[in-house]
Amino acid sequence: MDRRTLLQTMLIGGAAAVLSPLSLARTADWQRSYLAAREAKPWLLGWRTVEQDRLRTDSLSISGQWPKSLRGVLYRNMPARHDRGGQRYRHWFDGDGMMQAFRIEEGRVSHLGRFVETPKYVAERDAGHLLYPAFGTRLPEMSLISSPDQINVANTSVIKHGDNLLALWEGGSAWALDPDTLESRGPVAWREDLAGMPFSAHPRRDSDGSLWNFGAAGDRLLVLYHIDAEGALRKAEALPVRDLPFVHDFAITERHIVFLLPPLPLSVERMAGGASVLDSYDWHPERPMRVLAVAKDDWSQQRWYEVPAGFYFHIGNAWEERNGTIHLDYLRFNDATVMTNSFRDVMRGEHSWREHARATRLTLHPAQGKAKQTTLPGKSEFPTIDPRHSGRRQRYLVVADARGDLNRPGFNALRRIDLDRETEQVYRFGDEIMVEEHVVIPKSPGAEDGDAWLLGTVLDTAARVTRLTLFDAGKLADGPVAQASLPYSLPLGFHGHFVRV
Ligand SMILES: [Fe+2]
Repeated sequence: MDRRTLLQTMLIGGAAAVLSPLSLARTADWQRSYLAAREAKPWLLGWRTVEQDRLRTDSLSISGQWPKSLRGVLYRNMPARHDRGGQRYRHWFDGDGMMQAFRIEEGRVSHLGRFVETPKYVAERDAGHLLYPAFGTRLPEMSLISSPDQINVANTSVIKHGDNLLALWEGGSAWALDPDTLESRGPVAWREDLAGMPFSAHPRRDSDGSLWNFGAAGDRLLVLYHIDAEGALRKAEALPVRDLPFVHDFAITERHIVFLLPPLPLSVERMAGGASVLDSYDWHPERPMRVLAVAKDDWSQQRWYEVPAGFYFHIGNAWEERNGTIHLDYLRFNDATVMTNSFRDVMRGEHSWREHARATRLTLHPAQGKAKQTTLPGKSEFPTIDPRHSGRRQRYLVVADARGDLNRPGFNALRRIDLDRETEQVYRFGDEIMVEEHVVIPKSPGAEDGDAWLLGTVLDTAARVTRLTLFDAGKLADGPVAQASLPYSLPLGFHGHFVRV
């Protein structure tokens, strides 16, 4: 792999630069709009900034019964600094990453939160104001930087692999943290020539404990990674892909790696002209969403499919039959406006997030070269599955759901879909509760499929606190079996990962 070519591809136009005083005044307008809207829209608490470098609570306020058998840490990652020095970012994805650790032990819960100390975070903390642009915020008069990691915000997801807890972004390196103290250890280079390469936020764990991942480098190269269970690189290569779009997630099956490529290509020319990364994507409703299946054992074996134009962030899981038919569950939007508009509008206090994703079952038939899909009812996101079924057939899909006439962004319910029987269980909170991702934890290593806990967080915008909620998956509709409340709220996060201790 030619690392220099890859880095140059990613940096065409300069991914970041220093902000001018005029530009800073414009970001201050966004901050004023956000602050002015907060009283009338309590849900804007989900996009607040955490001012402290660390947060800590030794004993959360408990209700219900936390099972003694559940011992471990729920890590969650999130953009938690959406403004600095009176200047506000223009997109939900832009803020600096803060790792949260909820430790559950003997029926008690503690919390530690700590910002990931990337070079960008440290430089801007020291300066007291924003220095660099981000995914959706790029203003004029900016100069080139040397590496994507200079603007790495490590804010999207988290996984423990080997001895490291990895804070994941998608434009640059995974960022290693100490799993106990959350202290930053620095960027991970899987191999010397891979330093600074994009490493996406949704690695997939295989049945042998190894990790698969990808990175989208510019508009033409898809970097694939396969990392063994101890954290050593088995293989990495860059595959050329024409019109590489925004691609946030992927899937594995027993024999394949699967990518869905929405018709949202990146214009490197527009980036070169000074646009933000977000503003450099073009939505093409007349083009199909491409599907690429790559053989795990020979990355040159690639098969392409097409489905109607659509957009997605997340895939629940995929698996394949003996005859090679691939089944994949993803959360499908009709277009990309949720990312290009709604996640921007929310930063200035406006609500335009009205289109929700729908759980969609995609089937790929390699013999005919055909793809078919069926969309299920419901308005959902943040799909999770029993991690033991990653890349294998799974029965259940857990999603955050928007029920009723919810006149605000986000979700107010949790739903578990039984894909085999086409039934579901739902628990609906009050509309003041913003429901976040809940991970699936088998009650024991040998527990039957479905015999699991669902663990995640909710933001109570009336009480202004974040709460950890635990459900018995089989009795989801009965409501949480236990909760633990922080004495403060956290901004809305993206993804979590549970580690038993
Ligand atoms: Fe994600």
